[in-house]
Amino acid sequence: MKAFYLVKNGDADKAFELRDLKLPDPAEDEVLIKTESFGLNYADVMARLGLYRECPPLPTVIGYEAVGRVEKIGASVKSVKVGNRVLAFSRFGGYASHILTPELAVIPIGDEVHSAKALALSVQYSTAWYALEECLNLHPGDHILIHAAAGGVGTALIQMAKRRGCVIAGTASTHKLDYLKAQGVDLPIDYRNEDFEKVLEKEGWKKKLDAVFDPVGGISVRKGMNLLNSGGKMVVYGGSSMSSSKSFFHKLRVAAGFGIWSPILLMMRSVSIIGVNMLRIAEDKPALLQHCMKEVLKLYQEGIFDPEIGGEYSSNQLAEAHEYLESRQSIGKIVVHWEND
Ligand SMILES: NC(=O)c1ccc[n+]([C@@H]2O[C@H](COP(=O)([O-])OP(=O)(O)OC[C@H]3O[C@@H](n4cnc5c(N)ncnc54)[C@H](OP(=O)(O)O)[C@@H]3O)[C@@H](O)[C@H]2O)c1
Repeated sequence: MKAFYLVKNGDADKAFELRDLKLPDPAEDEVLIKTESFGLNYADVMARLGLYRECPPLPTVIGYEAVGRVEKIGASVKSVKVGNRVLAFSRFGGYASHILTPELAVIPIGDEVHSAKALALSVQYSTAWYALEECLNLHPGDHILIHAAAGGVGTALIQMAKRRGCVIAGTASTHKLDYLKAQGVDLPIDYRNEDFEKVLEKEGWKKKLDAVFDPVGGISVRKGMNLLNSGGKMVVYGGSSMSSSKSFFHKLRVAAGFGIWSPILLMMRSVSIIGVNMLRIAEDKPALLQHCMKEVLKLYQEGIFDPEIGGEYSSNQLAEAHEYLESRQSIGKIVVHWEND
């Protein structure tokens, strides 16, 4: 088998090395999958830049998801058979021609589903589902704000919130605002050129937000908290603003920007802060992760969700795929297909 090792933090063109490895055998509850494609997530960019605390020490194989066929199963595996085409979540190890992962992180997808669409469903749609459907209970007419709304998780959140009948504000870089409108965002905000807090105040959304979805972190969270209505929820699931600069002082500024939220203050205002880390869910509640994956696959197959594919690369273009995701130009999901043997 082959795997892309992350060998060096920094620029994408020097960060990865393709290595040959011995094929592993699955443990009792594991599935070995020969992969056709794997997906990129923004956490991979953070890991490459050395900004992701959960990344194992280098050299390591990163990557959280793959589509492929089951090649071997452990003795207790019942839900998939050798030869099934599956979507798999993996706790790292995804940038490889074969992955080993627990049975509960695998769902059959059939032969027809486009691999790029399926990959979007794994981490990005499942994260959005967990955050919006499992942690919250949104109602028609609720006002919500989604940051980085044109990205993989952002697109999934828009489609889920539309399904719930919410009124949506979404932030993105300038060239993505038409995409947000086409996805049904009611108030697209060019947050790199305008202060989103001021825009929302001007539009009469101050203290009107029922939920904010924030993967940016820092001051963005503090501003979002100011906009919450009574009963409002702040869902924090990333810190992409950390990646804007490598300086220690920048990191400190971002960390301080979140603000300090005492339970008393949260109680007085009747607002909540919810943290989401799908790695923790995958590790400690694997059946819940599998439930999220099954729900989003079902709604995709019913035509309710439609992941946007932002870029498809071949395995000899991994560095380009990474650079594109890092550049803030991408919309939707970025995937890598293995070159045929
Ligand atoms: N906690 C979890 O379990 C979990 C799971 C999945 C994803 N996430 C987080 O969710 C976010 C979205 O992930 P994704 O994979 O779907 O990626 P993505 O949204 O497709 O791509 C990242 C986007 O983040 C936006 N962004 C905002 N501030 C940025 C900054 N300072 N530097 C670079 N980009 C910035 C950019 O869009 P604009 O410029 O248009 O805003 C960029 O295109 C990431 O922060 C990721 O770490 C967390």
